[in-house]
Amino acid sequence: MSILKVSRLGHPVLRMESQRISRETLASAAIQKLIDDMMETMVEYYGVGLAAPQVHESLAIAVIESHGPRGEIPVTVLVNPDVTVLDEEMIEDWEGCLSIPDFRGRVPRWRKLRVDGLDRNGNKIHLTADGFFARVIQHEFDHLMGRVYLDRMRDLKTLSHFAEFQRYWMPQEKENA
Ligand code: NI
Repeated sequence: MSILKVSRLGHPVLRMESQRISRETLASAAIQKLIDDMMETMVEYYGVGLAAPQVHESLAIAVIESHGPRGEIPVTVLVNPDVTVLDEEMIEDWEGCLSIPDFRGRVPRWRKLRVDGLDRNGNKIHLTADGFFARVIQHEFDHLMGRVYLDRMRDLKTLSHFAEFQRYWMPQEKENA
């Protein structure tokens, strides 16, 4: 496995709608290695989620995993995901992003949703998520649609450099997505 270079805000790949992939392409050694490398890259940089455009691949693949204080999320690979909102209440909380290093900001997200898509083996998955898991899914799904969390903030007044975030807002927070 390899640790991949992460694309940063300003790279056009982060603003493109990513391509869905066929089951045949998904089964290829190249895509299976990409998924392994995305997971290794996410762990290396303390991420809780990583979308393929963040490693310069405009493909509809995202990986998610968290063992942090905000919630336990098992390893989840989402291919060609579709998101359906199940609870229109929005909750605002802090987010960071590996493609926007050294920043945190408060982002409103739907409380609960359903995801339909494929797992890495091409099997259909249908899962329901709420709270932090739903937040991370929305963050990664946005990446696949060419959006970043800054686009979702109500305003930029809470946008903070990490050191100031730690000092003034939430000293224990480390995760990115
Ligand atoms: Ni991100």
